[in-house]
Amino acid sequence: MSIDAIKTVAVLGAGTMGNGIAHVFARAGFSVILRDVEQRFLDRGMQTISGNLDREIKKGKLAEAEKPKVLARIAPTADGAALAKADFCVEAVPENRELKLRVLKEADATLRPGVILASNTSSISITELAAATSRPDRFLGMHFMNPVPVMMLVEVIRGMQTSDDAYATTMELCKKLEKTPVAVNDAPGFVSNRVLMPMINEAAYCVMEGVATAQAVDDVMKLGMNHPMGPLTLADLIGLDVCLDIMEVLYAGFADSKYRPCPLLRKMVAAGWLGRKSGRGFYSYQD
Ligand SMILES: NC(=O)c1ccc[n+]([C@@H]2O[C@H](COP(=O)([O-])OP(=O)(O)OC[C@H]3O[C@@H](n4cnc5c(N)ncnc54)[C@H](O)[C@@H]3O)[C@@H](O)[C@H]2O)c1
Repeated sequence: MSIDAIKTVAVLGAGTMGNGIAHVFARAGFSVILRDVEQRFLDRGMQTISGNLDREIKKGKLAEAEKPKVLARIAPTADGAALAKADFCVEAVPENRELKLRVLKEADATLRPGVILASNTSSISITELAAATSRPDRFLGMHFMNPVPVMMLVEVIRGMQTSDDAYATTMELCKKLEKTPVAVNDAPGFVSNRVLMPMINEAAYCVMEGVATAQAVDDVMKLGMNHPMGPLTLADLIGLDVCLDIMEVLYAGFADSKYRPCPLLRKMVAAGWLGRKSGRGFYSYQD
């Protein structure tokens, strides 16, 4: 499908990433079908979008009169059949292989044949997800960063069978969203998590081995490397369970001991210390 024919975009999942993806498409003028399984998840997603639009208005990034127009372009629905009207589709359901395969097969059966189907997966092989559909040539990864309305990057991941056409259309589409697409081939962790997660893992090793405290590790990376936040603060923000899961994907995917998850990370996840969301990780968030 040519870029100019894309007017309506379906987003599967109204959670953290899905509502952000719906937000940026609607802000760029696309009609959005926002699909989730229950009305309460849709309501929560729409509320988040409304709050994030307010933030953009406060920062002077969006005119106040635009807000109702952006919201009106988003049609929340719990009905999977609504996808039949979409010209492009982005999947952002939870990072679970079986769930993703099921959701993608259902979407594939409903979407029109020419429509490109993209997954926002952080770690599952794009080639494998693509092969579960009838459109592996029109399937690719569109890895948005959190928070979606703020972060510039979209990692565009080509599966083994992704066509040049689908790839070129998706790169153009990212530009219409005022994002910067970066082309990456399918490999465990893509580029973003393959580089980021081993750094976080190594930071956890430094703490485990008593080389430095979490605060000291973060200070070194912030003050010495100009990172806006230290790796362990970032790990707490992402969720230590998510970090561990991605290390496991790298470790299994490359069968290379350099990706072995840090035992301290495993122990913290086992203890339920998942970072900000559980109130405790490398730092405490009890207040
Ligand atoms: N959170 C992040 O920082 C981040 C960053 C980049 C990529 N990702 C990836 O984005 C994807 C989504 O992550 P998230 O953090 O937004 O998850 P989330 O749990 O916040 O949201 C997922 C949403 O999908 C909905 N859902 C479940 N089954 C569904 C179905 N059958 N059809 C439609 N919706 C369904 C859930 O109800 C939920 O609202 C994952 O693949 C994740 O790896 C997440």
